[in-house]
Amino acid sequence: MATVTPWEVKGNIDYDKLIQEFGVSKIDERVLKRIEKHTGELHPFLKRKIFFAHRDINFILDEYEKGNKFYLYTGRAPSGKVHIGHMVPWMFTKWLQDKFDVELYFQFPDEEKYLFKKDLSWEDSQAYLQDNMLDVIAMGFDPKKTKFLIDTRDAGLMYKEGVKVAKHITFSTAKAAFGFKDEQNLGAIFYTAMQAVPAFLPSVMKNKKIPCLIPHAIDQDPHFRVTRDVLPKLGHYKPASIQCRFLPGLAGMTTDGKMSSSAEHTAIYTTDDPKTVKNKVNKYAFSGGQATIEEHRKKGGNPDVDVAYQWLMFFEEDDERLKQIYQDYKSGKMLSGEIKAILIEKINKLLAEHQKRREKAKSQIDKFLL
Ligand code: TRP
Repeated sequence: MATVTPWEVKGNIDYDKLIQEFGVSKIDERVLKRIEKHTGELHPFLKRKIFFAHRDINFILDEYEKGNKFYLYTGRAPSGKVHIGHMVPWMFTKWLQDKFDVELYFQFPDEEKYLFKKDLSWEDSQAYLQDNMLDVIAMGFDPKKTKFLIDTRDAGLMYKEGVKVAKHITFSTAKAAFGFKDEQNLGAIFYTAMQAVPAFLPSVMKNKKIPCLIPHAIDQDPHFRVTRDVLPKLGHYKPASIQCRFLPGLAGMTTDGKMSSSAEHTAIYTTDDPKTVKNKVNKYAFSGGQATIEEHRKKGGNPDVDVAYQWLMFFEEDDERLKQIYQDYKSGKMLSGEIKAILIEKINKLLAEHQKRREKAKSQIDKFLL
């Protein structure tokens, strides 16, 4: 049995079942065609169903086609170092920003993980905030069209709106949506109201109704389900969303449905050096290969459970190359060590570029603050 909540993701996740449970819609061919009409091409994450679900994306496109542009909203609660799994929705958000030429509001709820994690001190959450902002800037978002919203720093603007949301959420709604028990602290119960704020704050600031599209990993959906119920009561549009599945951790999908930053050896951090990446992948990446070379040549590998192949689906953009790797690995022509070598090179290239931009980001934070 898998668990998927905003605070905990574990086990082998059945994404079709999750669509049913959460009541979201599958991204079908029609939606893909509609997106492609505007973007000219489809991001590999769409082609490969890594972004696989949505709420109300047709509303966003209807309005866009009428000339009413949307804005993007996503976020990151600082609680640890950023890993390559976190980069997945941000890569896609950057693509959407470029293709649709729209603004992005990026929330850093610097109180969230402080409230939800027993062992996280206030000082640590603030240090991670500074650190995590560098990774977000390094994604390449356009500083002219991107604004950071930091909950405690921008409280003067945000709290007032959060209160308006909170008034419309009862404790029983919060319990049902998030599974809270009576032991839960008050801040944690209130928190979802703050995550709702960026879904309409630009409309308040600009005094006009602007559609909001939220790219996010599917575990965040309960927040926005609640948000969607409340916002019309405040005179705002319901936010739309486009949702992705998780990059599995190194141990593989059956045990590591989602890469976790608290389990050092299941994650690749954005700051890992090439040698660390190589060692982690070679040592820990769950292999779909056979026990001996002879057996592998005969029976072939299983790409569907092989972490190296699964990660290449996220990070190898070339469809033809990916297909070739799939065939060669499945037929036994390509060995486990070989597919891992391809992955290592891919990740190290991605991280080398990211790390360069991350260094530069140190002097750019001010450009993104409100
Ligand atoms: N709750 C998210 C986290 O745990 C952070 C977040 C805030 C977020 N607003 C968001 C994520 C909007 C996606 C979309 O990191």
